[in-house]
Amino acid sequence: MKKVIYCFSGTGNSLNAAKIIAAQIDGASIVSVKKGTVSELAADADVVGFICPVYEWDIPETMKDFAETLTVNDKAYTFMVATYIAVHGRCFETMDAILRKKGTQLHYGKALRCVASQCIAYEPFPNPRWMVPRSDRHARKIGRQIAMRQRNRYPRMSPVTRKLYGKMMTPFMNVRHEYDKGFYTSDKCVGCGLCSKLCPCQNITMSDKHPVWNHACIGCNACVVYCPHKAIMFETPDAYRNLDNAVSRHLGLPDKRTRYHNPHISAKDIISEGEDIK
Ligand SMILES: Cc1cc2nc3c(=O)[nH]c(=O)nc-3n(C[C@H](O)[C@H](O)[C@H](O)COP(=O)(O)O)c2cc1C
Ligand code: SF4
Ligand code: SF4
Repeated sequence: MKKVIYCFSGTGNSLNAAKIIAAQIDGASIVSVKKGTVSELAADADVVGFICPVYEWDIPETMKDFAETLTVNDKAYTFMVATYIAVHGRCFETMDAILRKKGTQLHYGKALRCVASQCIAYEPFPNPRWMVPRSDRHARKIGRQIAMRQRNRYPRMSPVTRKLYGKMMTPFMNVRHEYDKGFYTSDKCVGCGLCSKLCPCQNITMSDKHPVWNHACIGCNACVVYCPHKAIMFETPDAYRNLDNAVSRHLGLPDKRTRYHNPHISAKDIISEGEDIK
């Protein structure tokens, strides 16, 4: 029986969840999804899963583009786990709609609360010291349900969120791909090129031993948080200032930007492309 989990992850929460869930459903391959990833595994797999973060109340466009290209065995059990902090929005509806066009549907969907890791916008929260073990426990529980092929009514976008979607998300959609406009390197950069390999969107080229961001960024934060020298500096993008103010004021977050990534996931794990990284 072939089992495959397609995973997109910037700061490692989703990949960590994928590894935990793969361990529960014996023998699952994890395929890391990046721009241009191609996979034929789903065509004859019996279990096909998708694990990714929620971005702007939906799934990241890299995952969406990838899922649209996929051929999926219409007899397979399908599931999706979306890592997030507060609003999962329409991510399950999006994946279900993609699968329905392929003659199947989403059989199981769960939102998994993790550390909110968008450090270019606000200080990551809650404290990873207790939040990471909590998310891990929840991921194990989800894994057990998936192992039993549970089906559920996946979480829908709430009527309030649906009503607010246009107003709340348009400022972000308008600057889509421009998160990197405030990125620059400090003199700690050694020109190793790791950031370029980490980027899931091929958005970073190296020039004269320095990274250049080409404004096809999806704001995954991987380059910022996994640079081994913490050499990537950033300004909060304008579109995120209101979000930063609201979140930071409401939660009393400190005025700093810790470069959080999931403690179980290394840069090497994030870079592995299209391979079984179980
Ligand atoms: C660009 C971006 C947009 C995000 N949008 C949302 C969102 O709409 N709702 C939410 O609850 N969390 C949101 N988050 C938080 C992430 O979903 C959360 O930190 C996730 O676990 C990150 O997964 P990863 O570590 O696998 O990249 C966002 C994070 C980023 C980087
Ligand atoms: S990973 Fe960091 S040190 Fe290496 S090239 Fe990129 S910014 Fe410079
Ligand atoms: S440039 Fe950095 S933040 Fe933007 S998509 Fe690439 S790795 Fe993610």
